[in-house]
Amino acid sequence: VHGASHVFVVFGASGDLAKKKIYPVLWNLFKDELLPKETYIIGYARSKLSLEDLQSRWAPYLKVTDDDKSKFQEFLKINSYCSGNYDKTSDFARLDKMISEIGNCNRLFYLALPPTVYESVTLNIKATCMSKSDKWTRVIIEKPFGRDLDSSELLSNHLSSLFKEEEIYRIDHYLGKEMVQNLMVLRFGNRIFSPIWNRDSIASVVISFKEPFGTEGRGGYFNDFGIIRDVMQNHLLQLLTLVAMEKPPSTDAEDIRNEKVKVLKSIPPIVIDNVVLGQYVGNPEGNGEEKLGYLDDPTVPAGSTTPTFVTAALFVRNERWDGVPFLLRCGKALNERKAEVRIQFKDIPGDIFNEGKVKRNELVIRVQPNEAVYMKMMAKTPGMSFDCEETELDLTYGSRYKGIKMPEAYERLILDVFTGSQINFVRSDELYQAWRIFTPLLHQIEEEKPKPIPYVYGSRGPKESDELCATNNFIYTGTY
Ligand code: BG6
Repeated sequence: VHGASHVFVVFGASGDLAKKKIYPVLWNLFKDELLPKETYIIGYARSKLSLEDLQSRWAPYLKVTDDDKSKFQEFLKINSYCSGNYDKTSDFARLDKMISEIGNCNRLFYLALPPTVYESVTLNIKATCMSKSDKWTRVIIEKPFGRDLDSSELLSNHLSSLFKEEEIYRIDHYLGKEMVQNLMVLRFGNRIFSPIWNRDSIASVVISFKEPFGTEGRGGYFNDFGIIRDVMQNHLLQLLTLVAMEKPPSTDAEDIRNEKVKVLKSIPPIVIDNVVLGQYVGNPEGNGEEKLGYLDDPTVPAGSTTPTFVTAALFVRNERWDGVPFLLRCGKALNERKAEVRIQFKDIPGDIFNEGKVKRNELVIRVQPNEAVYMKMMAKTPGMSFDCEETELDLTYGSRYKGIKMPEAYERLILDVFTGSQINFVRSDELYQAWRIFTPLLHQIEEEKPKPIPYVYGSRGPKESDELCATNNFIYTGTY
């Protein structure tokens, strides 16, 4: 095949991430005709697989309707597979040959791999598989980007010795979500928010991530990392950053990322007194069937103290935010799936209504499920009485934007790599700051092994988390 414009290489093609996310996303993009024309996909992994084998791995995750059948045949034609080791230069030379045979093309390498092989794979890409012409090469990597400040620095130094920053795309898939992208527009495209977006009007901010399932099957990985590294240090901190950063001079990727780094620099490392750690225990009657506790997972080492739930209070020590708690809260095996930002405004000064009736305003940005932006506010109870009640100004996307398909985070991000937009990718100095904030806490937890507070699978998590929020100026409304 000649004249191809892009080759997308999936390292770890036989693995979980590839089959569950990367291939389904590539298929969706292809089906919707969003992939650049003349794009070819090469899977690379150690196992000797035929394209049919690969296809049978995709089968449970890749949706092909009857109408899509002929399109899917075309999709198969742009796919091929190369088996090889991750540390063998001659295998990478074979891969390079396959790419060159396709044509003189831009090269995208997706590392859907465990971090243990990042180093050898990137060395081999650099030595053997870089585009040799006027075409570009881009490398996409997934977290974990190290496990603390030092290991992350080692990885960053390694990568920057091989590639330019504009060739490295560090994925945080939360940045590809509709509502996360909406945060900047809400803040900087609405005059009404700018005068109140600060310590004078905002009492506290709660950023939550809740999942209704445990570590099922991923216990090994999870136990090594814990929920702080899995979700909080990246996804939740990104949300905080977008809520707290100053307005960038433009929507240029570097302008935005400069502001992100700036606000992160104002956040001191988290102290353990401002943290609640939890771990789920079994629930014999969880949702009609028995749910096992974290320690009952056979892939989790006996007696592990790895937290599966964490709430932490962070502070941004700058002119805008000094004294406003940002509570990051995340947990597995909770009562629901939800990710949201709650910005709670201060009490009304000089309340003239019946004492206790007037509740705080709260702006909620619900990332998932059912994307929405709503403002909790007071209104007169309709009717004869002159009473007041809490109600909502409600922008629920499902009703306002009926029928508009919300792209999957990975779809957006993979397209960004094709087009070369780094707005929604993590820059190395941003990563450094994120690790600086979390590393002392992570080390302390690992050294002292504080016993996490048990909470029942399917509950809201430890009550101590609500107490921490309450002492940090967040009034529990019963819905968060
Ligand atoms: C991943 C974490 O980064 O995010 C998982 O490793 C978590 O543990 C997932 O389940 C959540 O992503 P989403 O898009 O389903 O909220």
